[in-house]
This record gives sequence, C-alpha cells and structure tokens, in this order.
Amino acid sequence: MSAQSSPTQSSAPTRKAITLPRLRDMHSAGEKITMLTAYDATFARVADDAGLDCLLIGDSLGMVLQGYSSTVPVTMADMAYHTRCVAAGAKTALIVGDLPYGSYHEGVDQAYRNACVLMQAGAHMVKLEGGGWTVPVVEYLTARAIPVCAHLGLTPQSVHAIGGYRIQGKDDAGAAKLKFDALALEAAGASLCVLELMPSAASNAVTAACKHMATIGIGAGNGTAGQVLVLHDMLGITSGRVPRFVKNFLTGQPSVAAALAAYVGEVKAGTFPDNVLHGY
Ligand code: KIV
Repeated sequence: MSAQSSPTQSSAPTRKAITLPRLRDMHSAGEKITMLTAYDATFARVADDAGLDCLLIGDSLGMVLQGYSSTVPVTMADMAYHTRCVAAGAKTALIVGDLPYGSYHEGVDQAYRNACVLMQAGAHMVKLEGGGWTVPVVEYLTARAIPVCAHLGLTPQSVHAIGGYRIQGKDDAGAAKLKFDALALEAAGASLCVLELMPSAASNAVTAACKHMATIGIGAGNGTAGQVLVLHDMLGITSGRVPRFVKNFLTGQPSVAAALAAYVGEVKAGTFPDNVLHGY
C-alpha cells in the first residue's frame, strides 16, 4: 500500500481534537453529541473526517465482526487490539473503549488494570455497563483520571440474565430505577451515559435529571444529549435482525463518507431519530 492510500491519512481540513472539556461545553450549550462505533483504522479515519465527535470501540464487535450471537465472548485482548486500530486512524474524535464481559466485575483493582490497558491502547475514555453495582468502579476510575461512559437500559453483556434484547424502563418502577442509577453514576463521576432501548419518557427523565453527565441514546428517542449507532447497522450491512430504531444512512448516498456525514448532520439537527423510527 502506498503512503497515499494509507488508512491513517486524511485529506479533510483539520479540526481541533474533541476533548472531554469540549464535550462538556457541547453538552452545556445544548449541542448534540455524535457517536458511532468503529473497529478499525480505515473506518475510524472516514468517521473522523465526517465529523463524528466520539468513536466507540464497542464490544458489539463480537457480533458484527466476529459473528457471535452476543457480546459475551469478547475478550480484553480483542478490545485492546481494535482500540489500537481505531486510535491509529482517528485523529480528532474522542475515543471510547468498551470494557468487555467480566473485565470489571471482580472489583476496582481488576477494573483499573483493564481500563489502563484500553487507555494505553489509545482510548480517551472507557465504557462499562450496569447500574448501582458499578458506582464504586466509576468512582475509582474517575478519581484516577480515567474518564468513564456508563451504560444503562438494555445492557447487552447481561443478555442471559435479561432473557433477550428487551426494552427496559417501560413501567414507572423501571423508569424510576434508571433515573436513580443515572444520578448515582453521575455523582460517581461518569461523563457520558449510553441509554439503550427504552421509551422516550424514561430517557427524557434521565436526561433532564442529569446536569453534568451527557446521555447518549440508542433506541431511546431523540431527547437525549447525543446519539450512538452501530456502524454496520447504519450502513445496512448487518446480517440478521436489525433493530427498528436503526436507519440505513447509506440509502441514497454516494459513499460511506457521505452516509456518515448525513448521520452527523441529522443528529446535530435533532432530526434523527424521529418518532416513527423510535416508536416505543
Ligand atoms: O458495544 C456497543 O457497540 C455498544 C453500543 C450499542 C452503545 O455498547
């Protein structure tokens, strides 16, 4: 491969790096935060050029890259490898590395050790799934200058306990628990919180309650502070069942780059997702 076709080379005008303080400024100014999953250097570079604020190396790579039926088999070695790839391609986006199944459940020491592996691989923030039980972990990591993205609602690493990929927070008690957990995670220092698969009423209540922690929705309506999608879903190349909140952004676009730019534009404008797509 010539230097000209290097996956890390970008022809787009340079933009300033998206740092945690910049994300906080966007949040307090009411500017929507755009996030997309990325797993390799080439897509990371295209997404960065398209203006994505955050790139998430999601453990969804177990399903979309590795062909597993859940994220449970994904290892720390997998996450470190793909985080290094994304960090090599992205120049300005804030990189979020997902802590995989079993990598933070034993306690704060294990969580810290594994978070350091992802940070040293190039992440700027780590993500972990779960409510109240993760609060001490979030507190421990953020006290040691490791920014954290929490993840509430449908937490795919718990698929066997939940019994499937089901909508969360549908009743009053479920919605109240989401808000309670979100406030505890915010107090523990989480900067972002993914809200996955829940009615708008539940995600809007969490978003309104959290003053410092920006909510990033996926299948959670368009009242959240930002949005995230799985790259392969929004390009229409996922095999099998695609969740109904996903929009294929490649339809009608001339290139992947244009599709990603359209996603950024629609999230920033607040037009994605719409109520028809969300529909819970
Ligand atoms: O692993 C992942 O890609 C995720 C997103 C769905 C938020 O957690």
